[in-house]
Amino acid sequence: MKKILVRDLKPGMITAEDIYSINGQLILSRNYILTPESIERLESFAIYSIRISDRVSTPLQEIINQGPSAKERVRANPDFVAFKASFEENVETLKTTLNQVVTANSNFDAENVISQTLSLIGKSEKSSISMMDMLLNMRDYDDSTYAHMVNCSILCNIFAGWLRMEQDERILATTCGLFHDIGNLRISEEILKKPGSLNFREYEVVKRHTLEGYSILSSQNLHPEVKNSALMHHERCDGTGYPYGFTAEKISRFTKLVAIVDVYNAMTSKRVYRRAICPFAVVEDMQSKEFSQYDPDMMLTFLKNVSNSFIGNRVRLSNGIEGEVVFIHQDDLAHPTIQCGQKFLDLSMHRDIKVTAII
Ligand SMILES: [Fe+2]
Ligand SMILES: [Fe+2]
Repeated sequence: MKKILVRDLKPGMITAEDIYSINGQLILSRNYILTPESIERLESFAIYSIRISDRVSTPLQEIINQGPSAKERVRANPDFVAFKASFEENVETLKTTLNQVVTANSNFDAENVISQTLSLIGKSEKSSISMMDMLLNMRDYDDSTYAHMVNCSILCNIFAGWLRMEQDERILATTCGLFHDIGNLRISEEILKKPGSLNFREYEVVKRHTLEGYSILSSQNLHPEVKNSALMHHERCDGTGYPYGFTAEKISRFTKLVAIVDVYNAMTSKRVYRRAICPFAVVEDMQSKEFSQYDPDMMLTFLKNVSNSFIGNRVRLSNGIEGEVVFIHQDDLAHPTIQCGQKFLDLSMHRDIKVTAII
């Protein structure tokens, strides 16, 4: 890692840190491969120097428009291939371990599953690809209850970092995410995977996964927050959640954290009854509920960081045009500025155009 004057930057160099404007607005995220346009953008924000990674990207020609998209580059990267393999191994371990608990009602080796997830996170933190990009590229894969829990667990770890939690709290948040939906293992697959909407009786059965989860975890040697998250991750700050309809003051910080991650992860994953929803549409939807159902400060931190993680990704717009996300407006997260060829399209000024997919 070295510090370089912006005037000496070259396309293809990789940022070693998040770069903020004087107002605290994110201009480029860490691990961003510089293009002539992004260097110009740094100059326009009067940034004098930045830290650059010792690694150099593939030649620039390969990363601009006619080259592979960010998604294609991530999927071809050996770090992602290794992440995917470890992720799947983690899902298998979780499945084997938890099935024993549910069928034999015995204690399980929570430490083993947690340490496997933490090692997956640890290894990936050293990669040139950000963890958010890794997760974004797991969207099209299997989304069983187990994969959902590993996904949420990693996202809880990242989110806890954004909230500047101490390391032991980050591990606790990761554990809360890992076991939050364990109660689903006592709900019939027929109902969980039913295509189409659930009737009243079926929905009542699904809601029981919170109580079942608490009952499975109650005899395990786990932190009370982990058990509470399984019980209360569907409670909402305005009292509209279940199983008890608790309001904000009765819901712990860890459970509020899991609730935000859970709903984001569920909406951006494909389900038997619908395709995955574009993350920008999810951000817009969650932003509208920000001040009622969820902790507003936590939600804002989450949505800002999630949105910023899309800088550099190629997207398709509702008018059919494709371009790269170059700027996230911190007061209008779901309507970024998109670079299409030589032109910049500010979606906050063109509200009829939406981002429909990250490609
Ligand atoms: Fe749940
Ligand atoms: Fe969940």
